[in-house]
Amino acid sequence: MPKLYLETVGCQMNVLDSELVVGTLRRQGYELTETPDDADLIFFNTCSVRQHAEDKIYSALGRLRHHKIKHPDTIIGVLGCMAQKDQELIKKRAPHVDIICGTGQLAQLPTLIQTARESGELQVALSLDRTESRHEVERSFESYDPMRDPSMRPNRFQAYVRIMIGCDKFCTYCIVPSVRGPEQSRHPEQIAAEVRQLAGEGVKEITLLGQTVNSYHHGSSRLSDLLARLHDTAGIERIKFITNFPKDMTDDLLYAIRDLPKVCPYLHVPAQSGCNDILKRMKRMYTVEFYRDMLARCREIVPGIAISSDFIVGFCGESEASFEMTCDLVREATFKNSFIFKYSPRPGTRGHELYDDDVPEEVKKRRNNDLLAIQNAMSLQDHRRRIGLRVEVLVEGPSKVTLGRSPLANGLVQMTGRTRTDHIVVFDGHPRLAGQTLLVDIDDATSFTLYGNVVTSEHISVSAESEPCCEVPAPKTDRVSLPLIG
Ligand code: 5AD
Ligand code: SF4
Repeated sequence: MPKLYLETVGCQMNVLDSELVVGTLRRQGYELTETPDDADLIFFNTCSVRQHAEDKIYSALGRLRHHKIKHPDTIIGVLGCMAQKDQELIKKRAPHVDIICGTGQLAQLPTLIQTARESGELQVALSLDRTESRHEVERSFESYDPMRDPSMRPNRFQAYVRIMIGCDKFCTYCIVPSVRGPEQSRHPEQIAAEVRQLAGEGVKEITLLGQTVNSYHHGSSRLSDLLARLHDTAGIERIKFITNFPKDMTDDLLYAIRDLPKVCPYLHVPAQSGCNDILKRMKRMYTVEFYRDMLARCREIVPGIAISSDFIVGFCGESEASFEMTCDLVREATFKNSFIFKYSPRPGTRGHELYDDDVPEEVKKRRNNDLLAIQNAMSLQDHRRRIGLRVEVLVEGPSKVTLGRSPLANGLVQMTGRTRTDHIVVFDGHPRLAGQTLLVDIDDATSFTLYGNVVTSEHISVSAESEPCCEVPAPKTDRVSLPLIG
């Protein structure tokens, strides 16, 4: 069997795209391999959000130069955002690449591979402009449907579902709108059909994906309507969605989270900065006061909801005072966690055109570390508050520390799963608990993880009558000892 090596960097969209690529190529007879050394196809699914992600790919391509001389039949492909953005640069820096394929053209890969093999010439498939890509995207939604490959998912019980593609917000630092094309929502009928299919394959948790997922609208159908529709899918227990844009956090969506038990009380809503001048330069279209009010509204309508955020430090013009305002927001907002990034100028964005990248790298690094330290302290507080709670955990599998180690004497290993609020929980259990929904009593916490003991191995099915918020204080009496759950 011919072999495919595929390396993926970047966001959940890329993870899903990679699943689709593998699904397509398996049907062509390819099998996955762990190393590029024995691969017939070497593909990189790339990200352009930060320079660092691009540098990694160019280094990997550089290492393959000799490989291609020794194995001229190996086909090397650059897929995704970097392909879309930099075809000329890729040709120049890595002339041994055989295929350059954008995110909207991945369905064409089988043909591109065949033509590259037969002709020995570079094959390029990219969107021409934002108008053209709108039609391609529509087609690609359809063509991807039957190509999903469960073996590429982290586990059998969780799957991503694309409900939108592209972005129309044009934040000044962000390359996504130019490489992923215009915002386009997928037909609810198609989404519902895909979710039914996934449920039939044993998927219990779906995560709906969109760059600004809460801007979803198809005809008169908004995200809240879509959630209500998907909620009826038998077999699906949890519905999550990422990533949200603060301005589009409407009350109907919050009521849907409150009223639909399968919709998890968790929101990722990037703030990016706590300073109005910087938010304005970023063209985020809201003020920090608006963002604070939005947080309060989320928490008022959905008590107990967990919220996480993204921040960029060292954006053009960010003074110490601006940075301090971001620190204040992180201290006050009690985010479950935040992803913090050093600003990386992206040629092709308005930010790169308009402003000087005037915060020195050393300062960016220091601010990154300082903000991370504040967030970690806040996460620890949030986690400690959960000690003594009984939470519902969807078990994902053995935790990373366990993998490759032998189990404890009684066959138990350290297992990991997530609560409905997206908190990571680690507990001792049998590996066959993977995929089950369990109750766990939390008895310890760090900034990143909750630790606990399984209360019962009985499967919890989520029905319309269940409480929307799973977390209740645990009575101290009815724990069962661990070996029973194995
Ligand atoms: N530099 C640094 N971080 C960025 N992000 C987007 N563009 C940039 C950039 N040019 C961050 C934002 C976004 C996350 C996915 O990546 O915080 O929410
Ligand atoms: Fe980028 Fe802003 Fe769109 Fe998010 S909303 S993808 S940060 S342009």
